[in-house]
Amino acid sequence: MQSLLIAVAIGFVVIRSVFAGSAPKATPELIEKGKAAYVTNCVTCHGDNGDGEGPAGKYMNPKPRNFIKDKFKKGNKPEQLFQTITNGLDGTAMTSYKHLSEEERWGIAHYIAATFKKKK
Ligand code: HEC
Repeated sequence: MQSLLIAVAIGFVVIRSVFAGSAPKATPELIEKGKAAYVTNCVTCHGDNGDGEGPAGKYMNPKPRNFIKDKFKKGNKPEQLFQTITNGLDGTAMTSYKHLSEEERWGIAHYIAATFKKKK
């Protein structure tokens, strides 16, 4: 009985790690959650409209990313944004947001990808 439980537990861990890399669907509900989490956690530096001019961001060096104009060092696809939010960028004010739930981090990733497109 015990070995069966262990086998199930290992199977669960393996399955989770296989699926961890793929983005959940960007539903309106998920993006809405992401927006709320962005406003709470990111706006002070990145600003309401994603231009990196939040009240704290203005005086930073390096400056927070301007999501509309700047290049992203680690990419701007939802999967890549999720990694940046989870791990942060070493040596900058952009720290890890691992403490947010996985759903919130995906929500923010989709919110940024869907909202702050380059204006041409
Ligand atoms: C304390 C200020 C601060 C807060 C709060 C903050 N960031 Fe940042 N962020 C930065 C800075 C500074 C950089 C630029 C670092 C660099 O140039 O290497 C950055 C860069 C980024 C980048 C670009 C990474 C790349 O690949 O170039 C993303 C995406 C990002 N932040 C998302 C977020 C999200 C999402 C949140 C909220 C969960 C957040 N940030 C909160 C300061 C902040």
